[in-house]
Amino acid sequence: MKLNEFYPKTLIEPFRIHSVEPLRFTTRAERQKALKKAGYNPFLLSSQQVIIDLLTDSGTGAMSSNQWAGMLASDESYAGAASFYRFEAAVKDIMGFNHVIPTHQGRGAEHILFSCIAKKGDIIPNNNHFDTTRAHIENNGAQALDLVVKEGRVPSLVLPFKGNIDLDRLEMLLAEQGRNRVPAILLTVTNNSGGGQPVSMDNIRQTGAIAKKYHVPFFLDACRYAENCYFIKTREKGYETSSIIEIAREMFSYADGCTMSAKKDGLANIGGFLALNDDTLARRCRNMEILVEGFPTYGGMAGYDMEAVAKGLYEALDEEYLSYRIRSIASLGEKLALAKIPIVKPTGGHALYVNAAEMLPHIEPLQYPAWSLTNALYLLGGIRAVEIGSVMFGMQPDGTEKPAAQELVRLAFPRRVYTQSHIDYIAEVLTCLNEQKEVLRGYRIVSQEPVLRHFTARFAYLG
Ligand code: F0G
Repeated sequence: MKLNEFYPKTLIEPFRIHSVEPLRFTTRAERQKALKKAGYNPFLLSSQQVIIDLLTDSGTGAMSSNQWAGMLASDESYAGAASFYRFEAAVKDIMGFNHVIPTHQGRGAEHILFSCIAKKGDIIPNNNHFDTTRAHIENNGAQALDLVVKEGRVPSLVLPFKGNIDLDRLEMLLAEQGRNRVPAILLTVTNNSGGGQPVSMDNIRQTGAIAKKYHVPFFLDACRYAENCYFIKTREKGYETSSIIEIAREMFSYADGCTMSAKKDGLANIGGFLALNDDTLARRCRNMEILVEGFPTYGGMAGYDMEAVAKGLYEALDEEYLSYRIRSIASLGEKLALAKIPIVKPTGGHALYVNAAEMLPHIEPLQYPAWSLTNALYLLGGIRAVEIGSVMFGMQPDGTEKPAAQELVRLAFPRRVYTQSHIDYIAEVLTCLNEQKEVLRGYRIVSQEPVLRHFTARFAYLG
């Protein structure tokens, strides 16, 4: 038969739906009432009041039948459960670290690590710290320093690796402060607070070399390591023919350890770990783990959670899955570009970020333009997103407030949950909102907590 080759343009999800969960549709009037009751804070809405939930990609993914099967066969022993050894073997196989310390989620690993290594007066650099990472560092009296490359702060620039750390500034910091004041270097892959942008292998390798030169341990914040590996494969010269797991192994080989939220690229609903090579530090971390998380062979997870993570870590490395995920978010970016909606370019691995500062220049930074856009998205289309701007990052440790570097609205995509028609709906809502953006006004905070205020603050609309 002489059939021409077929190159599909349609993006198809690389899975069939095995069990479904109904969406609950709400009316505009219901949403108006619900948001007011929630103090204009989307974190305080019930999920039943949301149509499409893009608040986070954390713990919200759909598990595979393979994962559910593993969960049924779990071992729930307190000490030495077989589920722990399967989990540990998966982490060691992919990441190659000697010690695997399970935790209930990523911040459990941060809590243990930073309470063991950080003290008052220390400085811990990263490309961009995520909010919980920053909070744990500051909670130990240390300073969390963001050193992303300057291109990473320009949303409209299209470059392959805008998550890279600025190596010159990193080296300068170490030359000036030395290891006495810098207890670790971190690198977040992909860079969540900086638009979900990836870090290149070259940048990871060079960060590792600087860390060695100054004898400072280097940890990856590895939540979205698989997505980062996919970007390396598709954007960095020399990796075109490598498998994703080979790229992952090389990436981790440059680091001394990692913190991991398995709720992202572990494809699990809960779980995490700290993994590292240093025996002495591992012993201290395990002692701390017993205090705050649990015995070292479960650390806050059930046996079935460890089974889910053991399988999820491999599933997240599947190239078909990664390609669908990243293409589907890019397709939303293309639709928004046609509607002239400013976004962080290129689109990230787990999320698309709308640049609210550019879209709503008539709202002052300290009247929270990204918060305003987030709430408008919910009111208009029942879509819940999250602000990454001055509400999340504007409060300083000394209690003063200053505008964040960027005003972004993050649309984070749960893994394997929404289909292409959901994506099309989101594009429609944003387009409709963009056409009437001038009517939006800012917010003021009515009540707030001193740390991580965005989770619970209540607001008043300035309209
Ligand atoms: N590091 C990064 C880069 C993260 O994005 C997160 C969580 C954590 C650490 C902490 O992990 O939630 O398991 O304790 N990010 C979620 C988000 C909450 O919505 O981006 P965790």
